[in-house]
Amino acid sequence: MESFVFEYATKVYFGKGTAKEYLAKALSTYGRNVMLAYGGGSIKQNGVYEELTVILKDAGKTVTEFSGIMPNPTYTKVQEGAALAKKEKIDFILAVGGGSVIDCCKIIAAQAMMDEDLWEMEMERHQLPSVQPLPMGAIVTASGTGAEMNGGAVITNEEKKIKTGLFSAPPRFAILDPEYTKSVPPMQVFSGAFDTLSHAMETYFGRSDMDNVSDDVALAIMRNTVVNMRRLLTDINDMQARGNLMWDSAMAENGILKVGRVTDFQAHQIEHQLGAFTDCNHGQGLAVIHPAYYRHIVKNAEEKFTRFAKIVFNVDNAKAGIDALADFIRECGLPTKMGQLKSKVEISPEVLRKVADTCNIIKCNPRELSRDEIYEILMECM
Ligand code: NZQ
Ligand code: ZN
Repeated sequence: MESFVFEYATKVYFGKGTAKEYLAKALSTYGRNVMLAYGGGSIKQNGVYEELTVILKDAGKTVTEFSGIMPNPTYTKVQEGAALAKKEKIDFILAVGGGSVIDCCKIIAAQAMMDEDLWEMEMERHQLPSVQPLPMGAIVTASGTGAEMNGGAVITNEEKKIKTGLFSAPPRFAILDPEYTKSVPPMQVFSGAFDTLSHAMETYFGRSDMDNVSDDVALAIMRNTVVNMRRLLTDINDMQARGNLMWDSAMAENGILKVGRVTDFQAHQIEHQLGAFTDCNHGQGLAVIHPAYYRHIVKNAEEKFTRFAKIVFNVDNAKAGIDALADFIRECGLPTKMGQLKSKVEISPEVLRKVADTCNIIKCNPRELSRDEIYEILMECM
């Protein structure tokens, strides 16, 4: 194990009916002015909005709504939310949605407390904000990213064509009610769950270290994610499986798997830039990239891939493990080629060259990739 400092900042309320039972109490120590932030309106169709607004009213909160947070949230939307939070003197932000809403709110929370431009500060001057962000809570309606239990936020700067992680504070609490995810379209359920699997894989395939408790936990999360995704292939409304995946999601990206080790996340860096140029769905982009990427690095981490193959897919060698992963992606109906991604622009070799030329390159993975190699990997996914 590498040395580490670990602290938990987010209190989790998991299970059916947890908003009704705990939300008012969880908010009681914060001020009156609550920003209720959400996405394109799914919460108005599935009853979540109605349930939450009653709770907030009964708790005596003054609610300012901030809606329309899009998948792959933009920096412009962050600025809009921060201006509203300042104007309405917001005391607490309640983010209700998937990773996009939660991430957008994390950065709104920091930007609302400062005049300086947060992007410039973090990305250009490489400084973290010294302000204490507004407190926020997350109510998860689509699981997969694990955004509800960490302080990172993935934001797209449309002008600069960069999709990247910015840093703020984690939510003070997260409400995880699997019932709130019931209305998520099946394709998004699988995309989200694949994102979870990817987080655990990317953490596990970081710096090789065969004797690490975090790796054992990561393998258990991967196996559980695969088992429960398969249960959903039989019955998409299996709430036990949805609940398991919701906790897998939080566990895969709340920092526990990263304790004492150096992570990889190269596939994520490639996918984020693919998202910057194409606006494709995050989990689906990862599903396309992962097998090709792993075929490129398997030689450099043969032993780790073999262990992954045996424990997660019950096959006996590294190559068979990657083949099983590719078969599993197909079995779930996730895209396997660039052309199957719903993209706002045509995914051409020129676009992929730009992705390869602008994505972050991780130095600590089993082997550092060159930009040409990333392009080659992307072209293999065409
Ligand atoms: O906007 P609404 O109308 O709510 O619709 C959303 C959206 O269209 C819909 N949805 C959410 N809950 C629903 C629902 N539809 C029906 N019923 C419900 N209960 O689902 C669609 C996708 O939502 P989104 O939040 O975009 O999905 P996801 O949770 O996969 O988040 C993706 C974003 O998170 C980032 C990704 O890059 C991407 O921008 N990530 C954040 C991470 C983090 N902060 O730790 C880590 C991840 O690796 C990831 O990069
Ligand atoms: Zn992800």
